[in-house]
Amino acid sequence: MAKPVIITPLSSALGAEISGINLAEPLDDEKWDIIHRAWLDHLMIFFRDQTLSPRQQVDLAHRFGNPAIYTFIKGLPDQPEVTEILKTEKDQVNFGGRWHTDTTYKEIPDRGTLLYAHEVPESGGDTLFANMYLAYEALSDGMKDLLDGLVAVNNSDKSYPGGRARAQKNYDGMGKSYREDSEALEAEHPAVRTHPETGRKGLYVNGSHTLRFKNMSIEESKPLIDYLSAHAIRPEFTCRLKWFPGTLAIWDNRCTQHLAINDYAGQRRRMHRVTIEGEPVV
Ligand code: SIN
Repeated sequence: MAKPVIITPLSSALGAEISGINLAEPLDDEKWDIIHRAWLDHLMIFFRDQTLSPRQQVDLAHRFGNPAIYTFIKGLPDQPEVTEILKTEKDQVNFGGRWHTDTTYKEIPDRGTLLYAHEVPESGGDTLFANMYLAYEALSDGMKDLLDGLVAVNNSDKSYPGGRARAQKNYDGMGKSYREDSEALEAEHPAVRTHPETGRKGLYVNGSHTLRFKNMSIEESKPLIDYLSAHAIRPEFTCRLKWFPGTLAIWDNRCTQHLAINDYAGQRRRMHRVTIEGEPVV
């Protein structure tokens, strides 16, 4: 008898575990509808105890859209859409270790991300997620009106002066994976984004990439970016995911931010990451 599909929320803000689905098997339309609905409702979904080859991870990504090629890190030789996120025992800095939304510096930012755990530290290495619908809805009407008229300028080098490849080339795990020839990207998007599938509004400003607001200087923009960055990650807007080998998480970059916690010094963490091409931001 087929196992029942069960959806268990991780916190009341966002995140849900889906059990009863083996993602290595072909996904029929009924199961896909459950997964897609849960993704829109919970913003970040995860599955435990999966066994997925890079090819199977990419096949699954195709159900959400077109897998993207990541600008700054080379993909696996046989599966260029998959990038390996590796922090070794020697590394001090981790990938994704600041609150952000993936690739908001792209003209068409990536819609979602699939992250699959291969090796995890014995303790630590969790990922935090925050719900940007809740962050927007909790703002005052005056702040909402102000933000509704603002355009955020997002730059891929904001947190990496001198370029990502230069900043990260000495990393033990990933130094050689960075594309030396990659150029910084910058894109302008509304500070408040309307989700194309749910129609809900969410805050679309993040401290890692949002450099300034259009027609304003960096200095003028900074206090508001700092305020919004701190507001967006209030504990009541978040959930915390603990990884085990075989955990696959899929998050919606149109309405979330996330942070890979760097609290596992001297231990190794290895993940496979695929992002999905998105749509223009409105
Ligand atoms: C990322 O920022 O995409 C990586 C998150 C993680 O490694 O937990």
